[in-house]
Amino acid sequence: MRKPVIAGNWKLHKTIPEALELIEALKKDLADKTDIDIVVAPVFTALAPTAQSLKGSPIALAAQNCYFENSGAFTGEVSPALLKDAGCSHVIVGHSERRQLFGETDELINHKIKAVLAEGLTPIFCIGETLEERESDAMMDVLKRQVTVGLNGLNEAQMLNVVVAYEPVWAIGTGKVASTDQAQEAHAFIRGLLAGLFSTSIAEQVRILYGGSVKPDNVDGLMAQTDIDGTLVGGASLKAADFIRIARFEK
Ligand code: G3P
Repeated sequence: MRKPVIAGNWKLHKTIPEALELIEALKKDLADKTDIDIVVAPVFTALAPTAQSLKGSPIALAAQNCYFENSGAFTGEVSPALLKDAGCSHVIVGHSERRQLFGETDELINHKIKAVLAEGLTPIFCIGETLEERESDAMMDVLKRQVTVGLNGLNEAQMLNVVVAYEPVWAIGTGKVASTDQAQEAHAFIRGLLAGLFSTSIAEQVRILYGGSVKPDNVDGLMAQTDIDGTLVGGASLKAADFIRIARFEK
């Protein structure tokens, strides 16, 4: 009932020619994959050329971040309106690297989500606990705070346009994927939070992606879980063959 989403977060990798080369391979090998939503998130400078190359392709384009104002004296920032202008339909918001390295708070992320939605774009809203938080049994409190504050003030119609990505920080770029049980448990908990904040019907419709060391050899097990609706892939999205295999997951 929920259409799967397979998204690639390229982080700070790939020049424009390299991005276009990868896109060519994805376009060729994923042209038939219309049963899922495929999203790629290159660096800002590659967005417009990538959008040109994706014309006519079902692959969607995401930015990795944005600011919440659409114009003004905000040196160095990029707005949802400009991202739309460059050809984006999605924006990753609240990635743990933004939270940890750039001090993004739940409140700031909430502003960004609202700004992205106001432009008619889809936020991919990232949440997840650190290893320390998991080991001190704070995982559920942390997820609850991130979800409650991050989605504060959204109505049900807006929530339907949000994609949530659960990315346990300890699994990102470490090769340590969460076990299928750990991931399913967190996803079910997040869906329960959405039911409490919005409604059961909304919670049943929102896509919740898993991110953190997703690879061709673990994607099938993750995607077999009831509450896992897709993946947000970092390292493995940089290689065409790996990302294509992930997008061709088998349940
Ligand atoms: O946003 C994707 C991400 O943080 C996971 O990265 O390299 O562990 O797949 P990676």
